[in-house]
Amino acid sequence: MFVRLICLTLGNFRTVTKRMANSGATNSRRSSLHGNWSSKLAFILAVTGAAVGLGNIWKFPYMVGVNGGGAFVVIYLVCVFAIGLPIMMSEIMLGRRGRRNPIATMRILGEEEAGQRRWALVGIVGVVAGFLILSFYSVIAGWTVAYVFKAATNAFANTDVTTISEMFDTFVGNPFVIGFWHTAFMTVTVTLVALGVERGLEKAVRIMMPALLALLLILLGYAVNSGGFAQALKFLFEPDFSKVNGEIVLSAMGHAFFTLSVGMGSVMAYGAYLPQEASIAQTSIAVVIADTLIAILAGLVVFPIVFANGLNPAEGPGLVFQTLPLAFGQLAGGGLFGTLFFLLLSFAALTSAISLMEPTVAWVIESYRLSRRAAAFVVGFIIWALGILTVLSFSTLKNATIFKGTFFDNFDYLASNILLPLGGLLITVFAGWVMCSNSSSDELDPAAGYIYKAWRLLARFVAPVAVLIVFLNAIGVFE
Ligand code: PFF
Repeated sequence: MFVRLICLTLGNFRTVTKRMANSGATNSRRSSLHGNWSSKLAFILAVTGAAVGLGNIWKFPYMVGVNGGGAFVVIYLVCVFAIGLPIMMSEIMLGRRGRRNPIATMRILGEEEAGQRRWALVGIVGVVAGFLILSFYSVIAGWTVAYVFKAATNAFANTDVTTISEMFDTFVGNPFVIGFWHTAFMTVTVTLVALGVERGLEKAVRIMMPALLALLLILLGYAVNSGGFAQALKFLFEPDFSKVNGEIVLSAMGHAFFTLSVGMGSVMAYGAYLPQEASIAQTSIAVVIADTLIAILAGLVVFPIVFANGLNPAEGPGLVFQTLPLAFGQLAGGGLFGTLFFLLLSFAALTSAISLMEPTVAWVIESYRLSRRAAAFVVGFIIWALGILTVLSFSTLKNATIFKGTFFDNFDYLASNILLPLGGLLITVFAGWVMCSNSSSDELDPAAGYIYKAWRLLARFVAPVAVLIVFLNAIGVFE
């Protein structure tokens, strides 16, 4: 009630000041410090580029495998649409309203809507999550780049399950080699962020995404005929809820946040450059559907190969690096397809990595008055150094396990299962409860039609309550 009162008062105050400032004209909004996206399509492509990445093709299949299959998939899908989608809409909306880096945006909007600057905390949770995620993301992206070269030199030809697994184990077991690829990937990411060309990349995404999709479809053709397709369908889509526990639900929810890139201000940073007339709902729905389709397709490719070759579905992070090379080794033209596939995947990882750095870099530039180059270098260096712990998690520090496992396991768990849902929870609470309905409807759907009503229901009740229940359930409160 109290919040509503403040909200209404501030809302009215804003309307009056708007009118005063603009004598009733429509455009009294803040403008972005860095210009706008050239078109709606450019924005959709940029957010798709941020969302589609290793999360869809590397992480989704391995998480499904480790968490027992169908039930994980069903919970993940529910989380994507009931929690991820409204949070994505909220994030883009807040970004466009604030038009600054996520920390400044949340501080400005917090002050404007509720007189509280402490909402900047949301941005800070995001910065920490971004550091943790990119530190391991870059290592896995490095594996992907290395596999481009393996495919190009026909290293997968005439192999079987044993040789492919040995190849992977030897590769990740050598910290110098994977450290090298991690360094190479971070160098490219930092260079692109430093040059500020990330917003030009949407043109490349336009070609890359359909190409990645086409290659996945070719692989699907192979997978359908591999002999393991029926078993894979069963594994992916026949849920056995008896095996589900709080941790599995938390992992499915955490993965929904991870794959959509929500909960850490990354999408908010992109929303800051979105032209006022673009529809946030349409954009978000398009991105969420594209992201989900690519993940499911990856699952449909990976698991038939797993079952046809007697591999263990719960293999873990190496799953994709063992199954896909097997397929490329057997396909006619596999050397070429393999090279192209890992190249496209590296590129998809790059556009995601850039989006992971952007909020922090924008914040460092705006707050410490550093140049873009200096900011990108400093942020990139810290992330690179943290990444060394993930590099070593597969060799020297393999047995140095605490809490959820190796450093890599802990970084992933902390970021995906705790920080992103926490950030997302704060974002929906702010967008649904603290922000005045005239501000949110103004941004999302001025006609306050069914889209706005559906969003508000999901953002106020469904998403925050679901995140809370999953958290409490995972720590055993309901047992
Ligand atoms: N969504 C990306 C993926 O699925 O690979 C990973 C990611 C990017 C997570 C950006 C979070 C983020 F802010």
